[in-house]
Amino acid sequence: MADKVLVTREIPAAGLRLLGDFDVTVLSEKPPERDELLEAARGASGILSTVTEMVDAGLMDAAGDGLKVVANMAVGFDNIDLDAAGERGVVVTNTPEVLSETTADTAFMLLMAAARRLGEAERVLRAGEWDAWGPMQLLGPDVWGKKLGIVGFGRIGQALARRASGFDMEVVYHDMRRNEEAERDLGVRYLELDELLETCDFVSVHAPLTDETRHLVGEKELEGMKDTSVLVNTSRGPVVNEAALAEALAEGRIFAAGLDVYEEEPKVHPGLLELENVVLAPHIGSASIETRDKMAALAAENLVAVLRGEEPKTPVTG
Ligand code: DGY
Repeated sequence: MADKVLVTREIPAAGLRLLGDFDVTVLSEKPPERDELLEAARGASGILSTVTEMVDAGLMDAAGDGLKVVANMAVGFDNIDLDAAGERGVVVTNTPEVLSETTADTAFMLLMAAARRLGEAERVLRAGEWDAWGPMQLLGPDVWGKKLGIVGFGRIGQALARRASGFDMEVVYHDMRRNEEAERDLGVRYLELDELLETCDFVSVHAPLTDETRHLVGEKELEGMKDTSVLVNTSRGPVVNEAALAEALAEGRIFAAGLDVYEEEPKVHPGLLELENVVLAPHIGSASIETRDKMAALAAENLVAVLRGEEPKTPVTG
């Protein structure tokens, strides 16, 4: 009998077609209710999950002893309890690299949109409030030639640095680890977080969510930023303290923000929803047609490899 595989959301065909040898259940386009998820997981040897599902001990136990692999269709894996997986001998995989360039595009898009007030400008136009070109209308800071600070200098952070160099920006970064090779290759400098926040015109956050990075950018850090600066977050919502950010934006302590991720998705802090100086996207960092195909295919390849007793391409370690 074919192994049972649970795919927790509708995913691109590029991934599903690789699962043809298995008895596959695909849940709905929307995130499944917890009960539905637990029920559907019963007897699964593999689960292909996304960021909206909590893959914890309860879900793994619902699947049962035959569960061998959880293949997350995301580079981030903070939705998965790695300890619980380790204790049960379940292999966890993610989808790094295939989404780096697309997510860096999203970060740069938000950076530009927030600086040049695109969201607000479009709202003015759609409301029928645009009556003439205005010499003083909707002015924002230039992006080109400015100083960009990248917090978290993994693949996505480095891809953003390459984009910024095309805009003649000075790029500095902060990370838990210095990367001297990337410094040489990309012509960027390492700074301590405080100095980066104090001196940069733009700050883009690319740190994974861990116990150490939760609220890495909080009240004190926002206080340290220039009042002309723009903050972008495409990593995970809880890396930035959303309430503190809403306050800083409302009081004009920073110029603007561009966000793709939130502390309690899909909820957005009500304070942010009221503000003109924040561009809000619904977690679309990797949402290009090509990249979602690649993510689905890589997640499926990982899952298939483990069920065939082979090494997956991109296991999560640690
Ligand atoms: C990821 O890959 O971690 C994203 O947040 C989902 O695209």
